Amino acid sequence: MKGVLLAGGLGSRLYPLTRITNKHLLPVGRYPMIFHPLVRMRRAGIKEVAVVTSPEHMGDVVNLLGSGRDLGLDLTFRVQDEPGGIAQALALCASFTAGNPLLVILGDNIIGEDIGEQAAAFRRQLAADGTGARVLLKKVPDPERYGVPRFEGDRIVEIIEKPPAPPSNYCVTGLYFYDAGVFDVIAGLSPSARGEYEISDVSNAYIRAGRLSWGVLNSWWGDAGTIDGWYEANELARDLVYEELLSLNTQ
Ligand code: G1P
Repeated sequence: MKGVLLAGGLGSRLYPLTRITNKHLLPVGRYPMIFHPLVRMRRAGIKEVAVVTSPEHMGDVVNLLGSGRDLGLDLTFRVQDEPGGIAQALALCASFTAGNPLLVILGDNIIGEDIGEQAAAFRRQLAADGTGARVLLKKVPDPERYGVPRFEGDRIVEIIEKPPAPPSNYCVTGLYFYDAGVFDVIAGLSPSARGEYEISDVSNAYIRAGRLSWGVLNSWWGDAGTIDGWYEANELARDLVYEELLSLNTQ
């Protein structure tokens, strides 16, 4: 399995903190934001990761991450020339993926637990069905801020992006497992009303094909992409120390 870390976008909800830097380089707890999802990927057994960001900030992102050696990763970088949505950013990774299944994480998602078991569940799904996708959910007090699943029994029948009247108390977190067919799915999408290629539309295509599974994150989780979310993520991650990064403290 390969990884895709999406770190583009304008960061407009955090402006002016993001006036001269990329959202994903802001601090969360003791680390730059982007370290958190990258450590979770590495711990899930994924070494080859593509990082997608905008041309304005690619230099700073590469300055921070380098080859990925400090994190035990082998990094590839892809430029998203203009912001056009999460699915459009993912589409830039087709040749990198080279037919392998993917774990995609949005770079502002801060996760309080390792996700190796979720990756194993997806590998089992692929072994049994050949194709598919898996989303990870979290119960939240404010689902209208996120993509929200609508259930029939224990089946997700639709994911609705930021619904004013959420059909459940769960959000779809920014962690997605996809088979390599995801790029054909994206090629068939149209932009949403806000002119973006939406990741929820990708997952909805898997739902229609009867190929979407889901899991639930047990520990805390936060989307640090808004001021409230960023403060909350800093609070949650304040005492989080990654053993594998201790050597960085002395540099
Ligand atoms: C994105 C997705 C949304 C998801 C969220 C999780 O929203 O579009 O479905 O629930 O990430 O972090 P954004 O934070 O970009 O508005």
